[in-house]
Amino acid sequence: MNGVDRIPAQLAEALHGAGQSHVLRFWDRLDAADRGQLLGQISLIDWHQFANLKRLAAAGAGRSATSPDDLSHASTPATMRLRDAANPVSPSLAIAAGEQALRTGRIGAILVAGGQGTRLGCAGPKGLYPVGPVSKANLFQYLFGKLRAVRRRFGRDVPLAIMTSSATDAETRQFLHEHACCGLSPDCVHVFRQHDLPAIDAETGALLLDSPGRIAMAPDGHGGMLVGLAESGGLDWFARHGVEEIVSFQVDNPLAMPLDREFLGYHLLAAADISTQVVRKQEPGERVGVVVAENGRHRVVEYSDLPAALAAERLPDGRLRFDAGSIAIHAFSRRFLERAAGRSDSLPLHLAFKVVPFVDEEGRRITPRSPNAIKFERFIFDLMPLAERVRVVEIDPAEGFAPLKNPPGAPADAPEHVRAAIVGHAVRLLAKAGVSVAEGIDLELDSGTIIDESDIEAAIPSGTRIDRPQLISAHASTATSGGPS
Ligand code: UTP
Repeated sequence: MNGVDRIPAQLAEALHGAGQSHVLRFWDRLDAADRGQLLGQISLIDWHQFANLKRLAAAGAGRSATSPDDLSHASTPATMRLRDAANPVSPSLAIAAGEQALRTGRIGAILVAGGQGTRLGCAGPKGLYPVGPVSKANLFQYLFGKLRAVRRRFGRDVPLAIMTSSATDAETRQFLHEHACCGLSPDCVHVFRQHDLPAIDAETGALLLDSPGRIAMAPDGHGGMLVGLAESGGLDWFARHGVEEIVSFQVDNPLAMPLDREFLGYHLLAAADISTQVVRKQEPGERVGVVVAENGRHRVVEYSDLPAALAAERLPDGRLRFDAGSIAIHAFSRRFLERAAGRSDSLPLHLAFKVVPFVDEEGRRITPRSPNAIKFERFIFDLMPLAERVRVVEIDPAEGFAPLKNPPGAPADAPEHVRAAIVGHAVRLLAKAGVSVAEGIDLELDSGTIIDESDIEAAIPSGTRIDRPQLISAHASTATSGGPS
């Protein structure tokens, strides 16, 4: 008899004990592969944790930990602004410190790329979505280029850990294999997979079937990075590479500048446990979480948890009281991450009410119109309250924040907005190098060779005018179509 003809008694009992035997409803009609898959999923469920998830869902906890009173003593933390001579630490000092750290190989990076990209609606990992206005490079290629550019300038690899999930792992690994890690040194790339957690019916707390032979599961949020990295040996891996500080960034922001030397410098000079990049929130309705400081501790309050009245409150100078919009780019000291990974209570679970398609009792797959299920996620920014020293650095969103969240045609954060942001960034950097660009043409800087205007200056004579779409690389002084005018 083969192993999937029968349901092991232990699993059947566990399901029964948890009141979840319905997931075996279609057992008799499953083929061997589906049976194996289902049993594999069931055997991985931590039933103690499942009971906790149900309790959490029933209490609605984590959904709003923030009442207006909770924020009465909170304020926006002191913030360094990139390239601002008025900062208490001079930008040039910070840049020098950041460069030194890159030159000595002390900096590593984590790319979180485990999300399901449901809003964008692309099949497969979001990292494979093409964003290069000219090159058609996908998000992985564009972002990995930035690490190559740093290696080109500072002569050291930036060891990179990539977090995948059940939704993205196989295709991400295949892509890396087929594209030789996009030119990154393979021994400086560590891929690890975050955990899944079950999605449960919002009304009954029951497990949902995604298909007759598969329980609906979802990645456990970008905060899954802490446990995933530690369990995969990633923290030791960074240590073996001599990495002391680790920046984390998200796959859907091609303009992300986690390796900005000045940002790294402020982090290093403050000996911070965590440093984080923010953009100035201008309007109450902007859907970004805000960094707040309270009794010497920092935390991020999600936009959905910030009461409307507080979100709209302005200071006498007209700024929003809570305006430090978090863009999910952080620098961590490795030792801080190690300490946090050693604590079981480091990251709480948040509830997200989502549409999760499910198979009903008759075996029909239903896609509800409104949220029917609860997913559970951990957020990496919840490490902030554990940090003794936090440094907040404000960046210009035009230069460092162009998230890809929505499908083409959406009013914001759609592929066309992201590509326009990449072009805009290129045009401004070229202008700094004295290169002008004809209006309305697509243009892209090779992320693998150009970090800032100095790379352009070395390749293109000042006074050059560009009048046709092109990918500009620091290798080629022939990248332009017009000569100096
Ligand atoms: P989002 O929260 O925007 O989710 O992720 P998403 O998967 O990209 O898109 P939606 O919400 O399903 O439409 C922000 C970043 O965090 C990563 C994503 O890959 C993205 O880089 N992420 C999110 C993970 O790595 N794991 C997760 O479980 C969730």
